[in-house]
Amino acid sequence: MKTRCALALLSLSLVAGCAFDEEISPLLPPLPPPGTIPETLAGWGLFRGNGATQEPALGVIPYEVIAPLFSDYSIKHRFIRLPAGKKMTYSDTSKWGVSDGTILVKTFAFPRDTRASGKGERLIETRLLVREAGLWSVLVYKWNDEQTEARRFVAGTRLPISWIDEMGQTHEQTYRIPSTEDCKTCHGGKEEVEPLGLRTRQLDRTFDHGEGPENQIDYLARLGSFEQAPPRAGERPRLSDPMGDDPLAARARSYLEGNCAHCHRQGGDSQSSGLWLNLENEAREHLGICKIPLAAGRGAGNLDFDIVPGEPDQSIMVFRMESTEPDIKMPEMPSLEPDRSGAQLIREWIAAMSTKGCNTN
Ligand code: HEC
Ligand code: HEC
Repeated sequence: MKTRCALALLSLSLVAGCAFDEEISPLLPPLPPPGTIPETLAGWGLFRGNGATQEPALGVIPYEVIAPLFSDYSIKHRFIRLPAGKKMTYSDTSKWGVSDGTILVKTFAFPRDTRASGKGERLIETRLLVREAGLWSVLVYKWNDEQTEARRFVAGTRLPISWIDEMGQTHEQTYRIPSTEDCKTCHGGKEEVEPLGLRTRQLDRTFDHGEGPENQIDYLARLGSFEQAPPRAGERPRLSDPMGDDPLAARARSYLEGNCAHCHRQGGDSQSSGLWLNLENEAREHLGICKIPLAAGRGAGNLDFDIVPGEPDQSIMVFRMESTEPDIKMPEMPSLEPDRSGAQLIREWIAAMSTKGCNTN
């Protein structure tokens, strides 16, 4: 086996492939003993060095999602660590089955200056979902100002952030690290904690693992990560890139799925609002069309319906997405800034709806 690993070391993707092979699994960094939680992120062995460059350790695979959750303009770095020799069960529409020892990683960072990538990023927090004894646990590690270490952080906090956008404009804003209590609002709702992005619909896109762009699901399949081969690319259900070139309605529904459906669905934290924005929901009223909100008045901008077809300015959905007031703003948390591009997309979608208006008798 020695030769294969030596060879594999020449290519990062082969190394990742190598890591799935039981015989050569020592390449995958060992996990801390079950039940122990490292006080620092480095204790998980997920990154090279202290993780400051976000360069993953061998066998830890970076990935991206199609319709990301907007988080106050932060940059995200996502990774998956699969236990050696264990395979996932693929599903077109439901969650993928994973084994104990699987870790999902999401780091939040801000560019110091978007125009000069050489100036690097300020890492804020790294969130983990760790699978142990058949359940997911949640962890947050907060990066220090020196960017040398991320320490375990439970309580949540608000931090002042300054970053420069591609136009050279400086943004001074507040960023909220959620408490580990908050994770469940989105990652579980009324059910157990679950990953949200690790799904066919979100991962069925290309990513460059060092050998040119390749579909992420095909890549995982090529590494032997699934029990059974997934359907071929093109035959798998996938979201549209909300800011891409697909038809408007598909992009808007993908945006709502990625940014709202974790709370707004049956079984979600805000199921009782009756507003279900997950992709599966086809009921017009539950999508908000001519739906009277639970709470009217100021919080609804004194408007009558969640969506008035053809009338974005009459639609509570747009009003709440554009609001910055804590008890009005949607999404409820943890982001504090409105997502202007997202709100604009929902405006265009509502404006283009064919049957105009709602019956107000
Ligand atoms: C406002 C809702 C929301 C809250 C609160 C939230 N998350 Fe998430 N999280 C998401 C969504 C949506 C995704 C998938 C989309 C993405 O990655 O952009 C995600 C993705 C992740 C991922 C990548 C794996 C996956 O699920 O696909 C990790 C790890 C993660 N979250 C950890 C946490 C932890 C830990 C907390 C609590 C400190 C937390 N999240 C709080 C919505 C939330
Ligand atoms: C972290 C959970 C969470 C997320 C994410 C979230 N919401 Fe909500 N939303 C709620 C809760 C809870 C309510 C009910 C209480 C209220 O009206 O404030 C609600 C209510 C609403 C209502 C009023 C619904 C009605 O008919 O009464 C609208 C409209 C709305 N949300 C839009 C959105 C949109 C659009 C998104 C995504 C861009 C979103 N929400 C994301 C938690 C969330």
